[in-house]
Amino acid sequence: MEERIEINIEDIRESNLADIPEACRGCVYWEYPEAFEQGKKDAVKTNAFEVKKNEWFAQTMKEFGTCGKIAYYEGAPVAYAQYAPSTRLPKIGSYGSKPAGKLEEGVVFLSCLYVSDETMRRQGVGERLLQNIIEDLRRRGFKAIETFACRSGTDNPSGPMMFYVKNGFHLKDKSDPELPLMRLYLESIVP
Ligand SMILES: CC(C)(COP(=O)(O)OP(=O)(O)OC[C@H]1O[C@@H](n2cnc3c(N)ncnc32)[C@H](O)[C@@H]1OP(=O)(O)O)[C@@H](O)C(=O)NCCC(=O)NCCS
Repeated sequence: MEERIEINIEDIRESNLADIPEACRGCVYWEYPEAFEQGKKDAVKTNAFEVKKNEWFAQTMKEFGTCGKIAYYEGAPVAYAQYAPSTRLPKIGSYGSKPAGKLEEGVVFLSCLYVSDETMRRQGVGERLLQNIIEDLRRRGFKAIETFACRSGTDNPSGPMMFYVKNGFHLKDKSDPELPLMRLYLESIVP
């Protein structure tokens, strides 16, 4: 039987914010879309947005609780995920597939799932990170998790549709056929 690599998954908290992969640490695409677009025009260095990102984490943790995870392999961060109520991620509204579920309905949105170390892909890291989030949200009593997946691509925003289908998600809306809204009901998962 193939051996599973040993990874350690930790909640994001103030003390490990610096372990967020560089590409995501200063990315405010979901959280502050106007600043993100303006930053692109003005060629603002992404590290200028790190403070905003850290503030976002601090406020979301206060309002909602754990909203991100980092996977470590041999002590080094290799993957990252972020999830929150849709109201904390205003970029969601600009996507064609809709509507994203609301927190009042028990729905949480997965905005980023990213195995940042590409040499670590296809070894089960993404799946274990996703399952860790699912377990976290189920334990906290939420009803469903949603994300936008790529139908034909493999990258942004959260990875390919087949990855989510393999992990039990169903198609909720495909108004934008390339970036469908996927949903997983957490209640159907037996603890
Ligand atoms: C999508 C992603 C999270 C998957 O993580 P991973 O560790 O590489 O995938 P896993 O090994 O856990 O895959 C589990 C299963 O999902 C499916 N899967 C994973 N990646 C896939 C791909 N690129 N295409 C099709 N199916 C895929 C497969 O069924 C796979 O099982 P298999 O390898 O036995 O066939 C990872 O590839 C990634 O980070 N991609 C980039 C995503 C991105 O750009 N995020 C936004 C950053 S801003």
